[in-house]
Amino acid sequence: VTADIKVIHADSRDALKTIAENSLDSCVTDPPYALVSTLKRFGNTDAAKEKPKNHQYSRLSRGFMGEKWDNGDTAFDPLFWVQVYRVLKPGAFLLAFSGTRTYHRMAIAIDDAGFEIRDQIGWAFGSGFPKSHNQKGDWKGWGTALKPAWEPICMARKPLIGTVAENLAEHGTGAINIEGCRVPIDESADASQVRTMQRSRREGGDGWGMSTVVGGAQQVVRPEGRWPADIIHDGSEEVQAAFPDAARFFYTAKADADDRLGSGHPTVKPVDLMQYLVRLVTPPGGTTLDPFAGTGTTGEAAWREGVNSVLIEREAKFIKDIDRRVRLLTSGAGERKRESAKAKNADKPEDHGPLFGKDE
Ligand SMILES: C[S@@+](CC[C@H](N)C(=O)[O-])C[C@H]1O[C@@H](n2cnc3c(N)ncnc32)[C@H](O)[C@@H]1O
Repeated sequence: VTADIKVIHADSRDALKTIAENSLDSCVTDPPYALVSTLKRFGNTDAAKEKPKNHQYSRLSRGFMGEKWDNGDTAFDPLFWVQVYRVLKPGAFLLAFSGTRTYHRMAIAIDDAGFEIRDQIGWAFGSGFPKSHNQKGDWKGWGTALKPAWEPICMARKPLIGTVAENLAEHGTGAINIEGCRVPIDESADASQVRTMQRSRREGGDGWGMSTVVGGAQQVVRPEGRWPADIIHDGSEEVQAAFPDAARFFYTAKADADDRLGSGHPTVKPVDLMQYLVRLVTPPGGTTLDPFAGTGTTGEAAWREGVNSVLIEREAKFIKDIDRRVRLLTSGAGERKRESAKAKNADKPEDHGPLFGKDE
């Protein structure tokens, strides 16, 4: 693999200014979910100070697990996304994770910056814990929060210069990699599934089932897989139980010890998931941007896909994690480690939903 990983230790609002206009092919990122106080975000400068205790937002105001970087300074600001817009090529896609509580603020900022919102991908997982606690006395059995089971990913595109074909010819961007991201169909697909596929195809279906006409007669061929959908899941028993047809959607394991590299970062994303997303939106040999790099999972994913990456991260402690990840990868140790850790951690529960205060 010859992909390049460029790491910038800076605030992305400064770093983006140093990157050439219309130069990058995609942006795949996981900004802070900003579970901070609404007052802190919207209070007037002369508004009464937020009370540290007994306040409805007192727990949220510390951000995700009390991390001070978990705020909306950057990702809710249209001017930040204008900077991302500037460095992306026309037609380049942007994928940005968010929390169910704060998605709207980020999506509006992306929209206001000039991007076209194209879709919203739901990443469903079975490992979130409800952080609501039961009331007592007469209100026993009442709580305040649902169990977190998915995260929305905003899918947007910088406007095209003309048609998709013209944009592709000029910039290599504007379309998504359908063939490269088809969801494999279970080898053990039974006859009824095969019939459904044939029917779907006959009815001008979208490739949720594949068959083809050979020598004038319709035959079922080995299917290449289903059309990538806007739901992705973690393969957990819970998700499979909720969606009996979960196999239709891309499956990615939860973040394992290897994804985390022993890092203390609380929101590490599974590399498999990031790889799928990078592949979906980045042209071959292109360069993807992650302005909220954390431990650098987007960089590892890009490297594994043979795609270059530009990673920007503000916190020194996470830059160390990125450096370690890059060293492991480029020394070849990443491959060996990844396999053994995957097997070992297969059944470990993982909490990747946003954490909420216990009783808010
Ligand atoms: C949700 S985490 C990303 C985790 C990453 N997906 C991973 O798997 O390791 C968001 C990251 O954005 C960084 N960050 C927040 N605001 C930033 C800014 N203005 N410039 C650069 N990095 C920033 C935080 O330090 C944090 O590491």
